[in-house]
Amino acid sequence: MDYALTRFTDEVRQAIAATGRVPAALIELTTPKANIPADLAFPTFRAAKALGLPPPQLAADLAAAIPRNETTLIGAVEASGPFLNFSMHPQRLASTVVSEIQARGAAYGHHADGQGRRVVVDYSAPNIARRMHVGHIRSTIIGQTLVNIFRALGYQVIGDNHLGDWGTQFGTVIAAIQRYGRPAAEGEAAMAQLEQLYARYNHELQAQTEQKEQAIVTGQPLPVFDPDLEAEARRWSLALEQGDPQARAIWQWCVDLTLAAAQRNYDRLGIVFDHAYGESFYEAMLPEVIAEALHSEAAYRDVDGSVVAELDKLPRFIIQRNDGGTVYMTRDIATVKFRLRAFDPAKIIYVVDGRQELHFRQLFAIVRAMGYARDVELVHIPFGIVTTPDGQPLSTRKGNMVYLESLLDEAVARARAVVEQKNPELAEAEKAAVAEAVGVGAVIYNDLYQDPRRNISLDWERMLATEGNSATYLQYSHARCCSILRRASEDGGVGPEAASLLLLTHPSETRLLKHLARLPEAVREAGDRYAPFVIAEWCYTTAREFGVFFEQCPVLKADPPALRAARLALVAATARALKNGLGLLGIAAPERM
Ligand code: ARG
Repeated sequence: MDYALTRFTDEVRQAIAATGRVPAALIELTTPKANIPADLAFPTFRAAKALGLPPPQLAADLAAAIPRNETTLIGAVEASGPFLNFSMHPQRLASTVVSEIQARGAAYGHHADGQGRRVVVDYSAPNIARRMHVGHIRSTIIGQTLVNIFRALGYQVIGDNHLGDWGTQFGTVIAAIQRYGRPAAEGEAAMAQLEQLYARYNHELQAQTEQKEQAIVTGQPLPVFDPDLEAEARRWSLALEQGDPQARAIWQWCVDLTLAAAQRNYDRLGIVFDHAYGESFYEAMLPEVIAEALHSEAAYRDVDGSVVAELDKLPRFIIQRNDGGTVYMTRDIATVKFRLRAFDPAKIIYVVDGRQELHFRQLFAIVRAMGYARDVELVHIPFGIVTTPDGQPLSTRKGNMVYLESLLDEAVARARAVVEQKNPELAEAEKAAVAEAVGVGAVIYNDLYQDPRRNISLDWERMLATEGNSATYLQYSHARCCSILRRASEDGGVGPEAASLLLLTHPSETRLLKHLARLPEAVREAGDRYAPFVIAEWCYTTAREFGVFFEQCPVLKADPPALRAARLALVAATARALKNGLGLLGIAAPERM
């Protein structure tokens, strides 16, 4: 069954066709400008030209000829110059939209467009032995929302966490652990120690390298180091690739430690993957991938022995080093091949930092050149960086980097202060739960409220503002709806069930209802444009329209009782739809705040 707005559009089209005056192919509908009090317009220019009539005349004739039908959502039909304007019938709109939301409940806004076709979303993808920093947070949050949106569109979505768990840097990590011992701490603290070991090792290695260089410059014999840190790291890297049990065991320990630390954050953010294969998973496929790249002539062997590709005027890139080693790109090619075979997807969506834009253009070019993914859409969703409120980029080097666990902790501590101030009577356990929902919600929404390509700033004032475009404001609006409904059931008056929805004709009610009717479209548009902010904007407008309605229309004190019942039903529908919108963004909607 179609949603109200789709039906309205179809009904308008049919009504015009039913006049018998305009051929179906010439019926093109548009959304009227904001200052026009109508919901859909038929600009008659093309049709009038074909019929040899002045457009205003055709519009006027059609306005008179449109059949009136009590069962459609069409209300007023008016000619305005060359336009034929259609408005929705406020009462039928009210009963249709509210009953639709009641009937579909948590699935209101969902579609069957995907018809079970599969979509792979590649997101989060932190690097092993490293803390998750703000860049991975963005991927994690945007990625999960796209997973939710495509599921709501009826696709079968496969979320894969493409862990950075392979590569030459692991030789250094293992060598450092061998040299200095394993970190004792847990969680993010253990990760921080691992990072320090890695840095310390590189620092010492650097010193050895400088001494070697110095000897060469001054013509002295080369110093001999025991151990030689560079050789040691290379040896461990090779041992790992060849499956040496000791190297594998330390590597596995790092993987488990990193995943356990990441999992705590994932749980708080509501992130659930179907797979976390990681780069290492593809190791066995790499020789065959390189052979295929050569065979298909997508790549060639360079004079120095490395395998390189130069495609579509993109800068040339390596898929195998001249020492036989493979790179990030090689594993990404294997990953595409695997995903095609394992999942037969319609699309693969990569949610990765905008600084990897070239990498993905090269990846898509080479897999096409190899003949893979012929009717599969490959999409890179790039995102901007995270800055301080005054626009300074966060960086490890500057020492102002923010890590996920501490970011969430800080958000929740700040949210707690907001909750204390707004609702000091809440029980302790509920305060804690609400603070968690508000803090985590603020972090998530900060990533989603605008185009992912734009940079985001960590501005707590704005992120936790109780008025304005913040998750907190949206959560408050939802909680406010819930509190009205609670009070209504407490005072025992007429509840939302007995609603006489036809009484909802106040302009602010009609505006709110029209907006609620737009959620299904917003979900579709968010999927088409890979743009969660379309849903964020829908939520924000809902909260504002609800605020206007609540200011202009008494609910609990509405008279007669049937009007109170109808308004309560509208409040319940608003709460439901808003909760669905927030849910798609991964934001919790507590009932009390
Ligand atoms: N681990 C990588 C990084 O931190 C991101 C991986 C993204 N996914 C992919 N298939 N390349 O930069």
